[in-house]
Amino acid sequence: MSEARATIAENSPQKPEGGKLPPNSKMDPNQLEFVVYKGMMMPQLSEPIEVHVPKVKNFQLRDSDVLLCSYPKSGTHWLWRVLDMLVRGSAEYSDRFPDNAMLDLMLTEIIDKVESPRVLISHFPADLLPEQLKDGGVKVVHVYRNPKAVMASLFFQMQATGKMPDLTFQKLEAMIFSEKAPTKNQFYYWDTVTEYEKHNPQVNIFHIAYEDMKKDTAGSIKKIAEHLGVKASDELCSEIAEAVNFNKQKQQEEKLGGDLQKSLKFYRKGEVADWKNHLTVAQSERFDQVLKERAATCPFSRRYCPAE
Ligand code: A3P
Repeated sequence: MSEARATIAENSPQKPEGGKLPPNSKMDPNQLEFVVYKGMMMPQLSEPIEVHVPKVKNFQLRDSDVLLCSYPKSGTHWLWRVLDMLVRGSAEYSDRFPDNAMLDLMLTEIIDKVESPRVLISHFPADLLPEQLKDGGVKVVHVYRNPKAVMASLFFQMQATGKMPDLTFQKLEAMIFSEKAPTKNQFYYWDTVTEYEKHNPQVNIFHIAYEDMKKDTAGSIKKIAEHLGVKASDELCSEIAEAVNFNKQKQQEEKLGGDLQKSLKFYRKGEVADWKNHLTVAQSERFDQVLKERAATCPFSRRYCPAE
C-alpha cells in the first residue's frame, strides 16, 4: 500500500475562510494520500503525521463536546448524524458535515473553529485519543460492527475511491489477516479500545453495536441520549430514528454533499447481513475462528461469536 506523502492543498475546501469553517465544506478522500503510522492507515495532511498525532493528543476539548470513535465502516456517518441531532435537540438536518469534525482528517486549528455543540470523530486507535478524555468530562460514543460486514463495506469503499483497482475480496482477506500486512486490523483497533478502558476507567464511553442500532433505532438513540445527558423525549428519539433511516439519510447527505458524496459510497446498502452476498464460506469461517479465539479477552469479539 502506498506510503506516499501528502495532499491537502493549501486552498483545499476545508481551509477556514475568515477564521470560520464553512459548515458544509467537503472533503474529497480521493485526494488524500495515506501513511502507515503505528500500524494504522492514516490520512496524510498538510502537516506530517508525526506532528498531527501529538496535536490531537493535546487537543483542547470543550465540556459540551462529544467524541464518536470507531473502526472505519462501522456506521460512523450514521451515528454522527444521530449525535448531531441529539446535541441540537432536533431531528432536522443541520448543514454541518461529519468530515469537518474528524480529528484524523482535519488540522486541529480548523477543528478549533467549529462552533459548539461539536460532535468530533476519530478512527485513531484509542491510545492516541485526546488526553483530556481521561478526566471523564467529555462523553465518548464508540460504534462497532460485525467484522464480516466491515470487510464487505470496506471493499466497496476502496473500490469507489479507485485507489486499488485490482482489489479482490481475496486480497482484502490477506490484508486483514496477514501478520505481515502493512496495517493492523479491526481486532487490533478493538484491543486498543478494550485496553484503554481497562486502564482509564474514568473515560466516559458508551458502546453501541451497529446491529443493535438497526434492530431498535429509536431505543438505541434513547440510550445514547441518556449517556450524553441530553433531554430527548421518546417522540424526539422516534423522529431522529425516522430522519436517519438509511434511505432518508442517503438522500439528505447526497443532497448536502452532491456528486462527491454520491461517488464515495458512504451510504451503500446499510444492511446487517449484506456481507453474506460477498464473503465466501471459508472467509466467514476464518472470521469465526478469530472471533472465538478472542472472545475471552475482547467483548466486541464475544458479541459476534457464533453459537456452538
Ligand atoms: P455498507 O457498506 O454495509 O452499506 P462508515 O460511516 O463508518 O464509513 O460506515 C459506512 C457503513 O454504514 C456503510 O455500510 C453504510 O451504508 C452504513 N450506513 C450509513 N448510513 C446508514 C444508516 N442511516 N443506516 C444504516 N446504515 C448506514
